[in-house]
Amino acid sequence: TRVALAFSGGLDTTVCVPLLEEEYGYDEVIGVTVDVGQPASEFDEAEETAEALDLDHYVVDAKAEFADLCFDSVRANATYQGYPLGTALARPVIAEAILQVAEEQDCDGIAHGCTGKGNDQLRFEAVWRDSDLEVIAPVRELGLTREWEQEYADDKDLPVEGGSGGDWSIDTNLWSRSVEGDELEDPSYVPPTDIYDWTDEPSGESEEIEITFEKGYPVAVDGEEYDSVSLIEHLNELAGSHGVGRTDSMEDRMLGLKVRENYEHPAATTLLNAHEALEGLVLTQEEREFKQLIDQRWSKKGYEGLVDAPLVGALEGFIAQTQQRVTGTVTVRFEGGTARPVARDSEFAAYSAEHASFDTETVGKITQEDATGVAKYHGFQRRLANAVTDDADAD
Ligand code: ARG
Ligand code: SIN
Repeated sequence: TRVALAFSGGLDTTVCVPLLEEEYGYDEVIGVTVDVGQPASEFDEAEETAEALDLDHYVVDAKAEFADLCFDSVRANATYQGYPLGTALARPVIAEAILQVAEEQDCDGIAHGCTGKGNDQLRFEAVWRDSDLEVIAPVRELGLTREWEQEYADDKDLPVEGGSGGDWSIDTNLWSRSVEGDELEDPSYVPPTDIYDWTDEPSGESEEIEITFEKGYPVAVDGEEYDSVSLIEHLNELAGSHGVGRTDSMEDRMLGLKVRENYEHPAATTLLNAHEALEGLVLTQEEREFKQLIDQRWSKKGYEGLVDAPLVGALEGFIAQTQQRVTGTVTVRFEGGTARPVARDSEFAAYSAEHASFDTETVGKITQEDATGVAKYHGFQRRLANAVTDDADAD
């Protein structure tokens, strides 16, 4: 019997390897690492650990697919409690890739090293429970703690880096880097700046860049076209050097637990801000207002790891319709850790400078005078209602 394990080479997934044999009776474990834009060092770690464990190790490149999903999330202005969903959106992509390897390699089971407290267990299993494979969650099912894992690894002489400083749990992909655990679990604790890897402390310098969108998808920076992966990588570098895209929040997880989360997401913040600025130019007021509801629901499904739910398809019907006109450019200024849109331009602008200008009196058949009637009626019911309450109060 054979089991495929979502493998990163970290403590959790490393202890899962012997446990799947000892506790679950599998003859063979294969490790699968899915590339969604982690730093090279993580693949080195996974590779080295796999070798030391004598583990059959597969690496699947899902960067392009993941980046495309991130761009779908931009069209939906997707965030959850301020966080642009990097971990959340990556999970179904990773889960699918591992399932595919598991099926190709005739596995009987499929396993992850997530805890029973977090979101990731739910996101992985939502994909895997569609298959006939046995779904295994050793950390949750055996009630493992990090302390126990560390001792077990020491006993067994497993290849894990022993208790080095900065014992945070880090999850990195193209769209965000998340840091949690250890001292950060105290919400009153101010994180040291070395939890950050992508973002520098904001300097006094500023820089402007121009982002081009086609139908809501980012396609170019400063006139140069990029594919989705390299566009994100480029902006992470650029915006990160200005300290853009840090979030420190109390996150309400799916199980209901609150958890202190720190994120950095320079490209995501830049693209989300720019996209929303362009929508502000081309969408009508009622489209913008209604789209907020759509975007919120999209974001929630994204957070849950359920982007293939029928509801999401339906929401995307609305989104695609609105994005037909979200083509144009946005200038973003990086300054003091922010990415602020400072100019936008589109052939689809629902905007008339002529009509809006303070410098013109009559445009076509519309004059300033025409607003007088509207002004007379504005707040009409409130006037009546307040008058009768005032009368009643006077009695
Ligand atoms: N809580 C976040 C989410 O559910 C991210 C968790 C990332 N994991 C980590 N080990 N830092 O999307
Ligand atoms: C975990 O609990 O395994 C990681 C964090 C999460 O799933 O939210």
